[in-house]
Amino acid sequence: MSDTLRAAAFLDKGGTGKTTTVAHLGVALSELEHQVLLLDLAGKQGDLAKHFGVWCEYRERIDTDEAWPNISTVFDDAWGTIAEKLGDDAVADLVVATDEGPDLIPAHPGLDTLDSELGNIDDARERYSRLEHFLDEYVDPLGYDVVLVDLPGMTNNVSYNGLWAARHVITPVEMGPFEAEQADALRRDLGKIADNFAVDIDLALVLPNKVDTRTNLAEEYLAAFQSEYPDAIAPDYVPYSQDIRNAAQRGMTAFALEEPSTTAQSAREAYLGAAETLLARLGGGGHV
Ligand SMILES: Nc1ncnc2c1ncn2[C@@H]1O[C@H](COP(=O)(O)OP(=O)(O)O)[C@@H](O)[C@H]1O
Ligand SMILES: [Mg+2]
Repeated sequence: MSDTLRAAAFLDKGGTGKTTTVAHLGVALSELEHQVLLLDLAGKQGDLAKHFGVWCEYRERIDTDEAWPNISTVFDDAWGTIAEKLGDDAVADLVVATDEGPDLIPAHPGLDTLDSELGNIDDARERYSRLEHFLDEYVDPLGYDVVLVDLPGMTNNVSYNGLWAARHVITPVEMGPFEAEQADALRRDLGKIADNFAVDIDLALVLPNKVDTRTNLAEEYLAAFQSEYPDAIAPDYVPYSQDIRNAAQRGMTAFALEEPSTTAQSAREAYLGAAETLLARLGGGGHV
C-alpha cells in the first residue's frame, strides 16, 4: 500500500479560492518538507500553472502539440496502452516542476470535453474511478507524500472523479449566507455518494477564506462555521489579502513574496497550520 495522501479542493461554486488554496497548501506542505504533486482538473484556463508562473511555457507546448500525454490523456480508454508504450516516461512527461516546491500536472484543453466523454461510460463506478485508477497505478509509485487535486467549481463527472480518487475534500469558504448553504449542500452530496456507492468521502478541511474581521458579520459566520464543522474547520482563517491577488497575477504564492504585508504573513501562517491539520486528518497512514 502506498503512503501517498490525497485530497481534492471542491465546492460547487467558482471564485471561493479553490485554486489559491491548492497552490498555497501545496507550498505550505513543501515548506514542511513533504514532496507534493498538484493536479489541475479545474479547466483548460490553466489557473494552477498560472499561479506558479509556468503556464506560458506549458501553453507553448500545447500549441506545438508537445503537451502529450497530458492530464486529459490519462482518462482515455487507451491510457493503459499509451502508458505501456511510453514506459517509464509516461507520467514523468505529464509533470512540470515549479520553483516553490510542488510539482504540477497542468490543465489541458482536452479537459473541455472530458465531462461528456466520461458521460459516455455506462457503468457509474467505471465512470467515476478513472482518476483513482491513474493515481493508484501510475502516480503512487512515484513516491509523493501528498497529492492535491484542484477541481472545477461544479458538480460533474470530472469533479466526481476527483472526489472519488481523493476521498478527502478541502473546501475554502467565504463568509456569507450563500457560502454556508453551499458548504451544507456539499456535505449532503458527499453523504449521497456514500449511500449510492459505498464510497466514503469526508470533508477533511473547511478553510475560511478572504475573511475580513473588520466586519461583525464575518466574525459571526466564522463562529457559525466553527460550530457547524467542528471536525473539519481549519485551525485558523485566511484573511482577505490584496497581496495574494497580486502575487497570483505575478505567478507566485504569498510564500514567495520577499516583503509580505501583514495580511500575507498571517495568510502564510494560516496555510501552514491548515497544512499540518490536513496531514493529521488524512491520517498519515496512506490512502486506503
Ligand atoms: N485570501 C484571499 N485574499 C484575496 N484574494 C483572494 C484570496 N483567496 C483568493 N483570492 C482571489 O480570489 C479570486 C478567486 O480565487 P480562486 O482561487 O481562483 O477561486 P476558485 O478556484 O475557487 O475559482 C482570485 O482572483 C484570487 O486571487
Ligand atoms: Mg479555480
